[in-house]
Amino acid sequence: MKTFQIAVIPGDGIGPEVLAEGIRVLERTAALSGDFQFQFTHFPWGCAYYKQYGRMMAEDGMEQLASFDAIYLGAVGDPSVPDHISLWDLLLVIRKGFDQYVNLRPVKLLKGAPCPLKDVAREDIDMVFVRENSEGEYAGAGSWLYKGKPNEVVIQDGVFSRFGCERIIRYAFELARKEKKTLTSVSKGNALNYSMVFWDSIFQEIGREYPDVETHSCLVDAASMFMVRDPKRFQIVVTSNLFGDILTDLGAAISGGMGLAAGANLNPERKYPSMFEPIHGSAPDIAGKGIANPLASIWSASQMLDFFGYPNLGKRVIDAIEATLTDGTCLTPDLGGTASTHDVGSKVLEYL
Ligand code: NAD
Ligand code: IPM
Ligand code: MN
Repeated sequence: MKTFQIAVIPGDGIGPEVLAEGIRVLERTAALSGDFQFQFTHFPWGCAYYKQYGRMMAEDGMEQLASFDAIYLGAVGDPSVPDHISLWDLLLVIRKGFDQYVNLRPVKLLKGAPCPLKDVAREDIDMVFVRENSEGEYAGAGSWLYKGKPNEVVIQDGVFSRFGCERIIRYAFELARKEKKTLTSVSKGNALNYSMVFWDSIFQEIGREYPDVETHSCLVDAASMFMVRDPKRFQIVVTSNLFGDILTDLGAAISGGMGLAAGANLNPERKYPSMFEPIHGSAPDIAGKGIANPLASIWSASQMLDFFGYPNLGKRVIDAIEATLTDGTCLTPDLGGTASTHDVGSKVLEYL
């Protein structure tokens, strides 16, 4: 029997709470399949670890993770540790170090999920964001000169390599072709006169290889407006690291909230482990209360099943999430219910 080795990084705040439910779901899917199993190895990395050891992960953390089939992550961040340290030294180091250059984030209004938009049909919100996940505005290039002096200067560079842009745009075209969906590139060439003009030209260039894919280009400001006013315009969306970060929180807001938004950080070549996580953070405001919504985390577990080649099981998990939502008797407070994180996990298992 095939065994998938999963590195579990629960992290901070609600991370451990939601991940525990995702793990129960994964275990159940393995039992249902009968032909594979999971072995979970927990890593205690995060802000508590930082306070004890002065680092967010073990010194050889990346070597330890490298041999796993996937990483399942909860959330990182605690008010007691500066965010740029906690995120850069754990989450971002994994995304970059393992070249997880595709951040796949579904924005789909599941049956039973609440939507704040009026006059929008459920089927109108059904997109997949392909967010560039390795460079762009998150390259970490820049400098901080004359710190604390009157002539202090801060420079944060965006890095858009031909290699990096081509591979993410090509991935999005392949996905659009496979799923017979339209592809929209979201950029900002009118103001970002180097990076986004370059991005737009590569989108056009690669588009010539995919005459069968209907394409659109949209400026990011207009895209955020259309996501609210006319979300059915968008099917597959490809965009830069920062724009993808922001637009997918907006996507969460129109498709049930942060508690329902999942993401996969993929290294499509499978040279390194890919990482699956809810897109929300550690939610310090509700951490420790047992009321965090585990559905985003469970959805990302379904993305893991897809990536391992079990799309039918992945679909069953989504169906179970949908059944839990339409049932409506067992939901966490963010969805208007009074159930606990664990109860919702149990409900999903019941439907599964
Ligand atoms: P957040 O996503 O943690 O919280 C935003 C709001 O959404 C909060 O009101 C929170 O209670 C709610 N929320 C989020 N997830 C929820 C869930 N599963 N169920 C119910 N409600 C949920 O974003 P933030 O407050 O901006 O960030 C908090 C910390 O998390 C910061 O340190 C930030 O840097 C970090 N962060 C980490 C990740 C990650 O690890 N992937 C992502 C985003 C933010
Ligand atoms: C996300 C998060 C991260 C990002 C942060 C925590 C660095 O907001 O996964 O959406 O910006 O990518
Ligand atoms: Mn984000």
